[in-house]
Amino acid sequence: MACGKLLFFFQLILFGLSLTVNGQLSPNFYSSTCPNALRIVKQGIAKAIKKEARVGASILRLHFHDCFVNGCDGSILLDDTSTFRGEKTAIPNKNSVRGFKAVDSIKASLEKACPGVVSCADILAIASRDAVVQYGGPTWQVRLGRRDSLTANRSAANAFIPAPSFNLRNLTSSFTTVGLSFKDMVVLSGAHTVGFARCTSFRPHIHNDTNINAAFAKSLQKKCPQSGNGKVLQPLDYQTKFRFDDKYYQNLLVKKGLLHSDQQLYSGNNNADAYVRKYASKQGEFFQEFGNSMIRMGNIKPLTGTHGQIRRNCRKSN
Ligand code: HEM
Ligand SMILES: *[C@@H]1O[C@H](CO)[C@@H](O)[C@H](O)[C@H]1NC(C)=O
Ligand SMILES: *[C@@H]1O[C@H](CO)[C@@H](O)[C@H](O)[C@H]1NC(C)=O
Ligand SMILES: *[C@@H]1O[C@H](CO)[C@@H](O)[C@H](O)[C@H]1NC(C)=O
Repeated sequence: MACGKLLFFFQLILFGLSLTVNGQLSPNFYSSTCPNALRIVKQGIAKAIKKEARVGASILRLHFHDCFVNGCDGSILLDDTSTFRGEKTAIPNKNSVRGFKAVDSIKASLEKACPGVVSCADILAIASRDAVVQYGGPTWQVRLGRRDSLTANRSAANAFIPAPSFNLRNLTSSFTTVGLSFKDMVVLSGAHTVGFARCTSFRPHIHNDTNINAAFAKSLQKKCPQSGNGKVLQPLDYQTKFRFDDKYYQNLLVKKGLLHSDQQLYSGNNNADAYVRKYASKQGEFFQEFGNSMIRMGNIKPLTGTHGQIRRNCRKSN
């Protein structure tokens, strides 16, 4: 009897622990306060991608750049104010992050249906999942209930968002700094199966690196010369730029990664190689892991409870 009671209390404690660890965000967070929230975002992103195929990739990147800077709190969406400079002009973001109008439009639809309920941080998480699905990738159950920050931090964006010049060690440390693993880093980099990069971002890799396929480098050098227009775009996955698949990893195996940082994941003798080989040959495993890693990325330091606010307009605090 005493033993049974003890076990019961032990279970209670375990339950309490699991609540504090996993209970912050939940898939059903809006089921009573905004039952159509998920449908509205899904329709919004479908419409936006129909108008411009790239925008889903851009929003997926916004979610990443949001989460790596003081957690997934919508801070990247804030415009500059008289009291702070926003993250949009930080080095990794300037002339590069996009998709804000599509986010505004989704937010406007949500405000019409359920004013002041769905956070901008959650919009990024849901829209990212829906974009991946729309591009033919995996689905996962998005955890919800993030609240929006009142402020942004430009220097934190410079400090925490990894750069394309990073080596494997640098990449690993940016992910572990925010609580993600080495494997998460390899898996989430697979997001580069969709979208584009500017010449400025891949120029050093195609001109000066040796771990690149020579013919591939040569053809890119024509489009992105040593000097000149740094804005020219190239697909991150030269094979299927709007298809979420495992071609990104296949490209790395033949040294056709676009960014220096991409090719860092496969050299033939580093500890990311085994993952790259696995995901290049087993798309199903990549898909499964991508969903799991996106959930972990989406869990980075959310504002919950009475912290932060639900912005009415994603570009400014209320
Ligand atoms: C591993 C470290 C990473 C580095 C160094 C990196 C770097 C970059 C760079 C330099 C670009 C091109 C930007 C430009 O030239 O305008 C880019 C694009 C992109 N990144 Fe990453 N990235 C990383 C990880 C991720 C992760 C984790 C995700 C999402 C889960 C992601 C999603 C994207 C997407 C979708 C694009 C294309 C965006 C568009 O076409 O608008 N990246 N990334
Ligand atoms: C912004 O981020 C930087 C770098 O992480 C940090 O040193 C600074 O204290 C932050 N500023 C504010 C106002 O939170
Ligand atoms: C990148 O790694 C190199 C050595 O591997 C180190 O010297 C450098 O400080 C790192 N840079 C960043 C930004 O972490
Ligand atoms: C390539 O390396 C050379 C020699 O170090 C340097 O002058 C040039 O600026 C580099 N090019 C790029 C695109 O990084």
